[in-house]
Amino acid sequence: MEMMDSSDENLRRAGAAIAAGKLVVIPTETVYGLGADAFNPDAVARVFEAKRRPAFDPLIIHISKLDDIERIATSFPPKARLLAEALWPGPLTMILPKRPEVPDIVTSGLDTAAVRFPVHPVARKIIEYSGTVVAAPSANPFGYISPTTAQHVAKTLGDRVDFIVDGGPCAVGVESTVIDMTRDIPAVLRPGGMPLERIRDIIGEVLIPGKKGGPIASPGQLKSHYAPHATLYLHPWNSLPYALRQTSPDAVAADPSAAPEVALSAAPMAAIVFDASRASILAESGLFRRIGVLSERGDMREAASRLFALLHELDAAGFEIIHAERVPEEGLGRAINDRLYRASKK
Ligand code: TXA
Ligand code: MG
Repeated sequence: MEMMDSSDENLRRAGAAIAAGKLVVIPTETVYGLGADAFNPDAVARVFEAKRRPAFDPLIIHISKLDDIERIATSFPPKARLLAEALWPGPLTMILPKRPEVPDIVTSGLDTAAVRFPVHPVARKIIEYSGTVVAAPSANPFGYISPTTAQHVAKTLGDRVDFIVDGGPCAVGVESTVIDMTRDIPAVLRPGGMPLERIRDIIGEVLIPGKKGGPIASPGQLKSHYAPHATLYLHPWNSLPYALRQTSPDAVAADPSAAPEVALSAAPMAAIVFDASRASILAESGLFRRIGVLSERGDMREAASRLFALLHELDAAGFEIIHAERVPEEGLGRAINDRLYRASKK
């Protein structure tokens, strides 16, 4: 593996490598992606192998200009066009009816393809220089935390890829929002970096998973995902201090069977909270060796951009137990809560 900075010369080399069937890790505004030529089934097969990703979980195809859509999709419905005009390039992936030329391995045999136009200039240049369109899942081993720095990737997949292009930390920090545009009423299959509110402003009604009659999430949205090695307990917004009071060391001494979490609390614990005020409330409990704050000033964007880096950091520090609190369910908070929920499932 060769790690390279994002000089124009290197971006040309990276693009040429993709065209030649190699695996290239590229920075995007959401997370780092493990890229290969979408029209080269052998290269795409190596992406699945490198990630140990099951074959039923289709990949997103990344484009560098709107015209690329024609190489992938048989139609571009009016609502998709509206979203593209308003929100592309950006952290939004649209599911469209696929052309037969797109290899089945990319779409796991589905008759739809996921298309994304990233806004990150490095990603766009690499795709452009490759002369093709680029299939790229997040550059993490399947099921593990997604990477938001080149170093995260080097640590976990470094020996299984040809190049890693370092574009610094990802600004958005959670994966793109995936929306199925093949239905009359478009359906969000994965909450992500593009807030639902913005999508609704542009095309009106949108279905969301988890609601009655709502869509089934993407094939890749397994319950357990984005998981650190630590066991992560997820608590409702504003309820972690309350949960701790019930399970303080005194409470355990009184009744060791009271709460299973308490029995584990002999091991050093870490916490993840939204903002500084939540952190100071938790600090009073004295139960945590480390309290990770997503955004001191309670900014949801900053919180999203820090989430995966914080999980990586707590894992590297060797914590076996992490207590996290959900964040308010609005804007990027939906994506943060979705990732925390999946990280809590083993
Ligand atoms: O932000 C992102 O989307 C990042 C960067 C690298 O672009 N990529 C990413 O890819 O998150 P990945 O492979 O980790 O997640 C792709 C998701 C999976 O949940 C997959 O099941 C879903 O998109 N997906 C792909 N094609 C689909 C299709 N045809 N229908 C439904 N879901 C699809
Ligand atoms: Mg992923």
